[in-house]
Amino acid sequence: MHSMACPLSRLLFLLLESLASVHAVVHVLNIPPAAPPNVSSALDPALTSFSFDPAFWVEFGGNKSHPNEFSMQMIRNIAARTGAYPIIRPGGVTQDSSIFDPTAGSPLRTTDNTTGAIYRTTWGPAFYESFSAFPSGTRFTVPLNFGNDSFEIASAEARAAVEYTEDWEQRIWAFELGNEAGNYKATQRNLTTWGPAAYVVEWKNWTSSINSFLPQPLRTRWWAGSDGITPALVTVALQTEDLIARGLNDAEPPIVREFSQHMYAYSACKPASAAVATVPNIHNHTNITAFVGLLGAKVTAARKNGSDLVVGEFNSVSCSGKPNVTDIFGQALWVIDTTLTAAALNVSRVHLHQGATLVSQSDTQINVPGANGTPGFSTYDLWYPVDSPLRGRRRATPSYVSQLFLAETVGKSRTSRLLPLSPPEGVSPDLFAAYAVYDGHEDAPVRLVVVNWDTFNSTMGEAAAKATSLTLDITGLRRNSKVTLKRLTAPGNDETNADYVTWAGQAWTNGTAQGRETIEVVENGKVEVRGSEAVLVFFN
Ligand SMILES: *[C@@H]1O[C@H](CO)[C@@H](O)[C@H](O)[C@H]1NC(C)=O
Ligand SMILES: *[C@@H]1O[C@H](CO)[C@@H](O)[C@H](O)[C@H]1NC(C)=O
Ligand SMILES: *[C@@H]1O[C@H](CO)[C@@H](O)[C@H](O)[C@H]1NC(C)=O
Ligand SMILES: *[C@@H]1O[C@H](CO)[C@@H](O)[C@H](O)[C@H]1NC(C)=O
Ligand SMILES: *[C@@H]1O[C@H](CO)[C@@H](O)[C@H](O)[C@H]1NC(C)=O
Ligand SMILES: *[C@@H]1O[C@H](CO)[C@@H](O)[C@H](O)[C@H]1NC(C)=O
Ligand SMILES: *[C@@H]1O[C@H](CO)[C@@H](O)[C@H](O)[C@H]1NC(C)=O
Ligand SMILES: *[C@@H]1O[C@H](CO)[C@@H](O)[C@H](O)[C@H]1NC(C)=O
Ligand SMILES: *[C@@H]1O[C@H](CO)[C@@H](O)[C@H](O)[C@H]1NC(C)=O
Ligand SMILES: *[C@@H]1O[C@H](CO)[C@@H](O)[C@H](O)[C@H]1NC(C)=O
Ligand SMILES: *[C@@H]1O[C@H](CO)[C@@H](O)[C@H](O)[C@H]1NC(C)=O
Ligand SMILES: *[C@@H]1O[C@H](CO)[C@@H](O)[C@H](O)[C@H]1NC(C)=O
Repeated sequence: MHSMACPLSRLLFLLLESLASVHAVVHVLNIPPAAPPNVSSALDPALTSFSFDPAFWVEFGGNKSHPNEFSMQMIRNIAARTGAYPIIRPGGVTQDSSIFDPTAGSPLRTTDNTTGAIYRTTWGPAFYESFSAFPSGTRFTVPLNFGNDSFEIASAEARAAVEYTEDWEQRIWAFELGNEAGNYKATQRNLTTWGPAAYVVEWKNWTSSINSFLPQPLRTRWWAGSDGITPALVTVALQTEDLIARGLNDAEPPIVREFSQHMYAYSACKPASAAVATVPNIHNHTNITAFVGLLGAKVTAARKNGSDLVVGEFNSVSCSGKPNVTDIFGQALWVIDTTLTAAALNVSRVHLHQGATLVSQSDTQINVPGANGTPGFSTYDLWYPVDSPLRGRRRATPSYVSQLFLAETVGKSRTSRLLPLSPPEGVSPDLFAAYAVYDGHEDAPVRLVVVNWDTFNSTMGEAAAKATSLTLDITGLRRNSKVTLKRLTAPGNDETNADYVTWAGQAWTNGTAQGRETIEVVENGKVEVRGSEAVLVFFN
């Protein structure tokens, strides 16, 4: 009756009450005090690895006498935190139109002068020699052209890799025959007969022929698969569990070092697919775990077969990303959540793809190359490796700091294990991700990752900052020890300027830390995380 008599003030009261509770609510985060049985295996120190499209190898890596020092610094920053270098895959769609020419130099792309499509990438010894310009300890996969259907082209590349890679036994991690062979066009294979069965027959034939001339230590270092994951086992897509069932890895000794799958949930390849590649769709933990979860069955199959599964190539939006979606700070959060979701499923490594627009992939894609054949660097790249007319000066993009965050999550112990945590009661599973890191010798978690996916854009103001903030109570753990945290933040999810993106208070736009490092002390076990922010908590 009271409310009937005074509906407006009642409404106001409810509103004020709910606003007040936004500040007051403290959510208790349940973290198992000891690692439960379903914690991941020990994290690979190179969990966060790379894939660079070979057509843009020179821009990203440079060559032996003139390495791209900026890229090298970006890679060293990661290794400084894990004690291991990322494994580098020069690979992608241009590997299937590549040719080794002993008289050629560094990888050189040949572009159709009317469409801008790259139809060939030619390299000579300098390509393999450039591997030694990377920090010592960096390992590489070797791209072989399978798409041309010429054994001669593929075997010439394999021979050259051994001949020209200095210290090949250490540096060559794996050979990769073809990229996304499930997508081959009618110019590459007879599509009436092409499919997983034909792939397995040809893959076994070619790899055993190449093995007959490779030095013995390299003969068991093959990647297999290298095709996208899809929700359905469609006819042509090459899926790990299917390839194993078809007998791909039946040589004795087995020759597959790792199975590889690629992962893109969204694409800018066509206007219709670009339309659904939006921030609300991509920045949703339920959507991330649903798609990445497809890897679970593949990991199980690979491990049962005595091998491992890696994501040899992935990013958020295929066909070079989408401006204002993949070049914003929120992409850093996406890389973190996606990588850790995969790691928790025991995917050994994920190779984040870097490159530039390739017109050949689709004639209706939204992205374009730069003027006069200059690269139109992909907007999902972690850094733009050289100055370019389309993207401006060489610099880190807002997502680069994800690599530092992930590297510190993995750490140097070689015994870190990961457990995804359920959201606290009352917190949406769509907008929250948390992971505990346990260490082999410790009973309690050593680190904690929290991502608050509730979108906070830079234009939204102070009230929204508070409304999207989450306060977590983590007192259940390690009461007697000092708890600190590092924050990954920006003025908003939509921030496109890396100068305003900070990891523990420091910006990394130009390759090295700028500003004073801020390590926060966690008081009373309360951790506050604004919307579109992530924190890494350290239980020291
Ligand atoms: C791990 O097991 C616990 C129960 O022991 C369960 O609540 C949790 O959902 C499991 N997590 C995963 C990622 O399977
Ligand atoms: C290496 O790069 C430098 C600088 O771009 C160039 O002058 C040189 O010719 C390159 N060497 C090879 C072998 O490509
Ligand atoms: C494109 O290349 C072809 C063959 O090399 C040449 O004949 C033609 O003039 C070129 N067109 C332009 C617009 O440069
Ligand atoms: C295969 O390579 C040759 C050059 O050796 C080239 O002319 C041809 O177009 C390539 N075919 C395909 C399908 O890539
Ligand atoms: C592709 O294979 C089918 C079935 O073997 C055959 O009939 C057809 O002629 C082939 N096409 C080409 C272009 O070779
Ligand atoms: C196996 O590869 C050789 C080339 O090394 C080729 O001549 C032969 O036709 C292939 N056989 C099959 C079944 O693909
Ligand atoms: C792996 O799978 C192949 C078939 O692809 C099979 O012949 C082989 O025995 C399996 N290896 C193990 C260790 O299970
Ligand atoms: C992801 O989340 C959105 C909500 O924004 C939902 O509508 C969409 O269908 C979900 N799925 C995918 C695959 O994006
Ligand atoms: C996240 O995606 C799921 C579908 O996977 C959808 O049901 C949910 O509404 C989305 N959440 C938000 C906040 O958009
Ligand atoms: C990106 O967003 C900015 C600011 O909202 C806008 O000016 C620009 O046109 C957008 N660019 C694209 C390609 O949508
Ligand atoms: C935040 O900004 C992005 C553009 O960067 C936009 O797509 C999104 O809808 C905005 N979200 C909210 C909640 O304002
Ligand atoms: C990076 O360099 C640019 C150009 O010199 C400068 O404007 C910017 O402030 C620098 N950013 C950081 C974070 O050091």
